[in-house]
Amino acid sequence: MSEHNLTNNELELRSARPGDLDQVARLCRALDPDDWIPEVFPEWAGRQDGTLAVAVAGDQVVGLLGHALITPREAYLMGMRVHPGYHRLGIAKALTNYVTHQAFRSGAGVARLTTRRDNVAAQALLDATGYHRLGLWDNIPDWDWPAAMPRVSPPSAVGLHVRPARVEDLQWLWPWLEEASRASDAPGLIAQPGETFEVMSLTRQDLVSHIEAGEGWAAGPPGFPPDESAFALLDWILRQFIGVLPAAARLLAELDGLVREAGQGVVNVTLPGSQFRLLVEAGLQGYQSAWWPGYVYQKP
Ligand SMILES: CC(C)(COP(=O)(O)OP(=O)(O)OC[C@H]1O[C@@H](n2cnc3c(N)ncnc32)[C@H](O)[C@@H]1OP(=O)(O)O)[C@@H](O)C(=O)NCCC(=O)NCCS
Repeated sequence: MSEHNLTNNELELRSARPGDLDQVARLCRALDPDDWIPEVFPEWAGRQDGTLAVAVAGDQVVGLLGHALITPREAYLMGMRVHPGYHRLGIAKALTNYVTHQAFRSGAGVARLTTRRDNVAAQALLDATGYHRLGLWDNIPDWDWPAAMPRVSPPSAVGLHVRPARVEDLQWLWPWLEEASRASDAPGLIAQPGETFEVMSLTRQDLVSHIEAGEGWAAGPPGFPPDESAFALLDWILRQFIGVLPAAARLLAELDGLVREAGQGVVNVTLPGSQFRLLVEAGLQGYQSAWWPGYVYQKP
């Protein structure tokens, strides 16, 4: 229960200023002594492609929420924090509405954020502010395959081919990704662009560029029929993975070799949590379990 009372006209929402750092740090550390936000705050407060908003009650910074335009049409919200002494007073709701409005005003057609799977408070808040859940993402990060460990393809994968993806694969791949993105729990066109929580849409042109750069891989029987194949997009982080067993299992099994050839040590696979059998298969093949399984939320 909150320690404070608040009337609406006591709460000011405004852009963060560099001088807010001490109060922001105090607020974040009241929630989590190891919070990473104070470290990045100076950079965020100066970001040109978005804003960082604070909620101020009296002379105290009691809430924080930022957004960045990660593409001209896509906003990503981050750093939602409300001081524990001020919970359930509508501060996060006011900040979410304020920042979402700012994002749309600066040209975004869509706003997204991710929450941990166990963060019931944030999920209820997002429900209450017009966001809807796109899907469960299970990150399986930090897979650093020991060189000595034998790699075993599942027996069912015999006869499957793995090869670099070709632009013409988009003929089967693109409708499939679009279909997956329509199915609410498997947003096939949403990817993590780096070692961050940010998620963004992949356009067909993005995929063409990645495939031309040699970052796409396909697995499947000869002819790569869409309903029996799998696709992975690989740069320093694996950004997209879609497929059906056993082709998907075969591709997972090959990834360590592909990563090594590319001179990279770590693979981060993001799989829709609904692909339960694929998650199990990944575990069997030595992928680490998720440290940050979460939901992607979007508005509208
Ligand atoms: C999540 C958090 C930001 C919510 O802040 P808040 O200011 O207390 O939220 P609000 O008062 O604006 O809540 C608005 C609505 O969200 C829901 N909600 C908020 N906290 C909730 C909780 N603990 N349990 C259930 N529902 C909750 C309710 O529907 C609430 O409306 P109501 O109070 O009229 O029932 C806050 O708990 C927090 O800072 N948590 C730690 C950091 C964090 O988890 N950030 C989110 C990362 S995505």
